[in-house]
Amino acid sequence: MIPLLIIATPLVALFVFCLSSGKKINSVTYASGSSANCGWRDGMLAYLMDAPRLLRVGYCTTKNKGGIFKIPILRNWMLIMTNSQRLEEALKSNDGTLSSRGAIEEMLQLSQFFSPTILTNPYHFSLITSHLTKRLPMVIPELVDEVANFFEELIGDKSFFVGRAPEIFTPMICRTINRAFVGKEKCRDKEYIKLSIGYSARVVSKGYMLSYVPLSLRAVVASLIAPFSQRRAMAKHLQPLISARRETIAEVGNVNADSDFLCGLIERAPPQEQDDYSLAMRILHLNFAALHSTYVVCTQMFYIICSKREWAEELRQETATVIKNYGWTQNGLDQMVKIESFVREVLRLRGQAGISLIRLAIKPFRFSDGVVIPPGTMLSADALGFQSDPEQWRDADHFDPFRFCEGDDRTSNEKGRIVNTSYNFLAFGHGRNSCPGRWFVAYELKTMLAYALYNYDISFESGVLEEPQDRWLGAACFPNETAELRFSRRNRD
Ligand SMILES: *[C@@H]1O[C@H](CO)[C@@H](O)[C@H](O)[C@H]1NC(C)=O
Ligand SMILES: *[C@@H]1O[C@H](CO)[C@@H](O)[C@H](O)[C@H]1NC(C)=O
Repeated sequence: MIPLLIIATPLVALFVFCLSSGKKINSVTYASGSSANCGWRDGMLAYLMDAPRLLRVGYCTTKNKGGIFKIPILRNWMLIMTNSQRLEEALKSNDGTLSSRGAIEEMLQLSQFFSPTILTNPYHFSLITSHLTKRLPMVIPELVDEVANFFEELIGDKSFFVGRAPEIFTPMICRTINRAFVGKEKCRDKEYIKLSIGYSARVVSKGYMLSYVPLSLRAVVASLIAPFSQRRAMAKHLQPLISARRETIAEVGNVNADSDFLCGLIERAPPQEQDDYSLAMRILHLNFAALHSTYVVCTQMFYIICSKREWAEELRQETATVIKNYGWTQNGLDQMVKIESFVREVLRLRGQAGISLIRLAIKPFRFSDGVVIPPGTMLSADALGFQSDPEQWRDADHFDPFRFCEGDDRTSNEKGRIVNTSYNFLAFGHGRNSCPGRWFVAYELKTMLAYALYNYDISFESGVLEEPQDRWLGAACFPNETAELRFSRRNRD
């Protein structure tokens, strides 16, 4: 899913910006005690090539000494918080000072790819909380059905299937999320799925290129990277569904608890965004938001399973016992504490990003000790550091799949479930802007893993037990996609 371009782009940008040098830094109030206080160019190169190391070193050296350090990013500086006092103060600030949306726009220019109001009025994200999460008891059986159907189709009448992560997990995730967003029929439409996957991949791999394009040209360049024709094709796919929902709403009146996500979307959309195209852009944006990060974690999860047979076996046994008693229900998935623990451990030690709580300073932000974040500067939390802090976690760097479900002496961190955010577990952010989709994602990942383990033997096709190493670009983690995976039907008597 991530072409070479994603590596090449920042390097080209790096050279361009090395030439123009980092004058901006003079206006930054530096954090003291920073280990990353190397030169701007060296620092940026180190960050692009080896962010995990920089984040760990930065955490250890500043946690008790300043609680913040700086790293050069392409256009300016990122200040990275390393103690909970700082997180607490930053989280108390408001969106007008430290803006989460501003940071997303700065990084990916989403308003150019979806619609100008996508971040200023994210009503479709509120709908995740008020509609999708509330309807989970109804949505979960559909999720299970979709995952089952996906594997059936993949393997067909053969006894096994071999493929790479992007061929398997990307369409699997895309189908399950769209089952929830737009329903059974559309989510199995191959053209629609292809369109969604292709569009999201373009935004992920090229979005931040756009922030280097002069403002007046951005819309034009955006339409070259992610053409209007694709957006219109998306709208065309959804148009009949939207019309049908409009008719339902006209007949029934208000949308009730039984109505699906698309109905909810139509009801919530402001008057000026009631047209098919605007509604389709919201669905497209949700596809983007739900696809990439889930894909990264899903792939990591299956790679680990392939490399540790004994864990796979233990998780499979738990699934079998639970299914016998509860079937594939929400209640059943809730009983799978080992699966839950395993997924949370993947999110703690692996996951898709080394930083979290990313904010753009809109106005100067002053910490209580006087450190000032000037406008235009990015601020974030060292998720990698917090999530592997030896003072917070037993055997912090060790991947222990069952740390969240075994032992009576578990700490409060270790009692948490996938969805529980804290200063020491930032995979979904924390506080006001934490990910509204995390309840859905938790069930989605658990279903995929449990269902696959229960029905298939999963291994690397090469026969090795060693996981291919993740690749990092800056603080973003991408799975190594060279490995082939084999799913073989299991004989269950
Ligand atoms: C974790 O989140 C769940 C669901 O939102 C909540 O009910 C529970 O109290 C939380 N647990 C902890 C330990 O914070
Ligand atoms: C992916 O993993 C394989 C096997 O571990 C390794 O040979 C290859 O260099 C890795 N590729 C990347 C791009 O990291």
